[in-house]
Amino acid sequence: MAANANTAAKKKPAAKKKTTVAKKKPVARKSPVAKAKTKTKTKTAGGKSTAGYSDKPTRDKNKPAGKVAEQPLMKALRAEHRHIATVMQLFADQLKAIEEGQLVDTHVVYEIMDYMVTWPDRYHHPREDLIYSRVAEIDSKAADEVDTLQRDHDRTAINGREMLKNIERWREGDATGALVAKSGRAYIDHMYEHMNVEEKVVFPHIESVLTLQDWRELAEDDHLRANSDPVFGPRVQREFRNMARKLRRTVRSSVERGTMVEWIGIEALMESLEVCSMALESARNTTSDHVRAAWDDCQQIFRESPATAPFLCAANNAKLTLRLLGDVAEISRDTFDDLTRVNQDRRDRVRLLDR
Ligand SMILES: [Fe+2]
Ligand SMILES: [Fe+2]
Repeated sequence: MAANANTAAKKKPAAKKKTTVAKKKPVARKSPVAKAKTKTKTKTAGGKSTAGYSDKPTRDKNKPAGKVAEQPLMKALRAEHRHIATVMQLFADQLKAIEEGQLVDTHVVYEIMDYMVTWPDRYHHPREDLIYSRVAEIDSKAADEVDTLQRDHDRTAINGREMLKNIERWREGDATGALVAKSGRAYIDHMYEHMNVEEKVVFPHIESVLTLQDWRELAEDDHLRANSDPVFGPRVQREFRNMARKLRRTVRSSVERGTMVEWIGIEALMESLEVCSMALESARNTTSDHVRAAWDDCQQIFRESPATAPFLCAANNAKLTLRLLGDVAEISRDTFDDLTRVNQDRRDRVRLLDR
């Protein structure tokens, strides 16, 4: 349902929500005894730890896990990045609509930023902070980078709350759409930049430094326990229902667009095959016409002047062959033009879909 800034119902501030993850709590290294206890406690008869980290790989458990297998925690972080990117894309679409003066569902805009301060800022970033702290303990050279990233998480959380306030003011008519669009775009750009650095630089470094034992110990930290995402998890929380619905619709329309593009491609292919088949038939008919004409001409020539007929027939055949080649070249040119037109038509139809 579309609503404008004046009619939109105000929602309760997300800041009141309970924080269940402590921020930047350093992960203390366990003593060898504690580690031994951990080993005994987590191992099962099947060779699997209760945390989901397998003992099966033959590599040394105290060597970095590296690229052997993506650890569940890293898998979760990467999945969360994909979710954040999806939400940021929806946010960008909404900001574009605001800038273009289109009717925008302000509930959706509010819920997007409410989600960002409720989920990534309270679960995703603190979880990364814990893992980064472990890396900094092992690799002192990474300490500065880790500190920078953790500060960036803090700044992102502050920016998110500020952005949420701007959206609330905009819904009440106390701030312009231009302000929301400008600060929203800066927020999106920063999120993408931050996630890109993590995906391209930080995550591979983490995977090259942490051992399976580190991962096991991290997985046992209560603050790193899996929490159900309020939008992408098994159940959509009520306060994000408008945004979830909009996300579903966006996915559906992209699937529909994909199907349409595929169908247009199939139609263009069928038309192209038809063009080629007609060209082939034309060439075959022209050739048989020429052969028939050459045969008729030869018979005529032999009847009229048998003495010179072989020479006259050869000359006539050469002339007819040249004419045939000319006809085939013309058919080829027409075929090329037709195929170009079919392809242009396909492109135009796909372009129309994007309007
Ligand atoms: Fe991060
Ligand atoms: Fe992240």
